[in-house]
Amino acid sequence: MIPVSQSHSNGANGKRRSFLLYLMSLALFYPIARFIGYSIPRKPNYIKITSQLPLTGYLITRDFILFDKDGLYWALSRKCTHLGCKLHYSETNDILECPCHQSRFHASTGDVVKGPAKKPLTLFPVEKRDSSPYYIVTT
Ligand code: FES
Repeated sequence: MIPVSQSHSNGANGKRRSFLLYLMSLALFYPIARFIGYSIPRKPNYIKITSQLPLTGYLITRDFILFDKDGLYWALSRKCTHLGCKLHYSETNDILECPCHQSRFHASTGDVVKGPAKKPLTLFPVEKRDSSPYYIVTT
């Protein structure tokens, strides 16, 4: 016959063991899931632009550059696809330049003009409206 105190002790150890097993399986699952490309989908972020764009036809924000030229409008991410530095827009050359390793991207399409970056920039969906907010960019 098992004494009451020992029985209670085994129950607590069992729960603790189960909990540790659960934590260890989570710790193993996460890197494997990341390795096979699983990522948790994040909620879309709607950025409202409440003023008209300047006459230059573009607006630089922290995360993207919004263009509105010749009846077309689009927004490109400012995050370099090489290692994530913030891109600068060169209006004269109509390209986005990376100050870190000098990758260059086409400002109309986001395509790579010059490496080391290999992937094009993220193109964010833009909704244009007649009243404020004049643009809604989904990032
Ligand atoms: S981070 Fe932009 S080129 Fe390397």
